[in-house]
Amino acid sequence: MFSWLLLASYIIGSIPTALIIGKLVYGIDIRDHGSKNPGATNTLRVLGEKSAAFVLVIDLAKGALAAALPYFFQLDAEPLYFGLAAVVGHCFPIFAGFRGGKAIATTAGALLVANLPLLAIAYITFFAVIFLTKYVFFGSISVGLSLLVVDLMSPKLDFELIFLLFFFLLIFLHRSNIRNFILGIEPKINDKNLSKD
Ligand code: G3P
Repeated sequence: MFSWLLLASYIIGSIPTALIIGKLVYGIDIRDHGSKNPGATNTLRVLGEKSAAFVLVIDLAKGALAAALPYFFQLDAEPLYFGLAAVVGHCFPIFAGFRGGKAIATTAGALLVANLPLLAIAYITFFAVIFLTKYVFFGSISVGLSLLVVDLMSPKLDFELIFLLFFFLLIFLHRSNIRNFILGIEPKINDKNLSKD
């Protein structure tokens, strides 16, 4: 049962929300526009607020639904594992050539069900770092760093290896943002010209 639910979680996470909205509503592949990231931030940049809100809610729901699977199936297993399997699906979707998003909305959904205090810490850090730096990708990477630091400081948590891998995954997923930042062309959240084409 454990393995089947992990697989189901990965498949739920693989639903490429931004790609579907881009293709069905606007007839474009969002991965050819802006930062080329099929996530809520780039949907906001390329398709506008309504589409971005929809993508954000559905991507978040994917993580939450996957984390809730052990409750639905009365399986005594850590919900976070299933939420993170959905995150892996979101980032490397089987339905979209393994070219997916950058984990942030789906991780929030997973933590919403699996661990509310961790959600609060990670996403207060996310918004605080964006507020201070004006760069979304710094906020995103700080989600992974804050989870790792809190885990290392808390004797009650035992996800060090998972959060360390998650942090490295975030660095890998944001490598183009890091390169753009070094080149001085990464847009800030309040940039008037948000196009990265
Ligand atoms: O959560 C996505 C964000 O970290 C970066 O998105 O589109 O600016 O590469 P984007």
